Amino acid sequence: MNATREKHLTMLGCAGFIGSHILRRILAATSYTIDGVDLERTRIADIDNSDRFTFHRVDVADSKAIEPLLEKSSVVISLAALCNPYLYTNSPVAVIESNFTKMYPVIEACSRYQCHLIHFSTSEIYGKTVYSQIACNKQIACNKPETTAEWELHEDTSALLLGPVQAQRWCYAAAKQLLERTIVAYGFERNLAYTIIRPFNFIGPGMDYIPGIDGDGVPRVFACFMGALMNSGTLALVDGGYNRRCFTDIDDAVDAIMMILENLSGSRGQIFNVGNPENELSIRELAAIMIRLYGDLKPESRNTEFPVKEVTGREFYGEGYEDSDRRIPSIEKIIRIIGWKPQSGIETTLKKAIEGFLKQYRFLQ
Ligand code: UGA
Repeated sequence: MNATREKHLTMLGCAGFIGSHILRRILAATSYTIDGVDLERTRIADIDNSDRFTFHRVDVADSKAIEPLLEKSSVVISLAALCNPYLYTNSPVAVIESNFTKMYPVIEACSRYQCHLIHFSTSEIYGKTVYSQIACNKQIACNKPETTAEWELHEDTSALLLGPVQAQRWCYAAAKQLLERTIVAYGFERNLAYTIIRPFNFIGPGMDYIPGIDGDGVPRVFACFMGALMNSGTLALVDGGYNRRCFTDIDDAVDAIMMILENLSGSRGQIFNVGNPENELSIRELAAIMIRLYGDLKPESRNTEFPVKEVTGREFYGEGYEDSDRRIPSIEKIIRIIGWKPQSGIETTLKKAIEGFLKQYRFLQ
């Protein structure tokens, strides 16, 4: 491989929430030159084209535009995806197209051009826990795991347990799973070099959007709650807010990607959970902590009673909504192979993210 290609990478989805953070770090901390692909570039409007970075406003399905970029790259980072649960129940065709159909030719081309593909999959691929599945079936007794470690999800051994096909919520996880299987198959039969990342609820500045300000519909939970806090609205707890997530600081997540980029040979052929198992909260707990931290940052809001209301998943997301009840990453593998460990506890992570939103939407000077 020639030296220019060795230090050149393509980022598909370079202006999304995760992509924009990774792009900034790669530009600041490495000598890679980058071709960035996205449909719009609001989050990276301040990054001009230069001898290090070229932006391409094209769809990943436009193979005439994409293939020449892959041909000159040693690494491809793929982040382009529709990954918002509201879309899974409302626009499932677009979700499957974006997460599988459009990406399939990219996988094939990466194998043909011998690029190392760093592909962003999802923690949602694990679906429901075995416990919740068995508990659904009242005929079968089951023992609830007693320790957090027993709930942990492992990249190479955990079962992937999705709900029924009529529950469209799972169309995204199913599309992501088939794409992961495609990547692994290309690795097995056609020598594709790959690393698959399964992100666990990354949060930070620039995540999603605020409904009514810079987008419509329903963003993910952190942005929903920020919208309610900034607009003195209501925080909705879907199905009581008892489901749990591990929230991961975006800067910790970017550290993981940088360490993978520095160790491509060690991460080749691996699937990694990237998440913070220490930062687990129920959504109900998340609402309470965000209201408190928001009050600390905006003391004038302390007298505001932020209403919290329970809604059903069907009311909130539409017919066909189901949920992952609990997802805790095992990070033993990424610690062992890459040496990455998340640093930010839940309070720091949430405070930074809330502060970032307040600055971005000019609620804080
Ligand atoms: C979503 C995507 O589907 C995953 O691909 C992605 O990995 C994940 O986000 C992520 O950010 O990493 P999910 O965790 O279900 O998965 O996304 P959220 O929309 O943030 O929902 C989290 C929980 O909050 C769910 O139980 C949801 O029902 C609940 N929720 C959401 C509320 O209770 N209130 C709201 O206003 C919004």
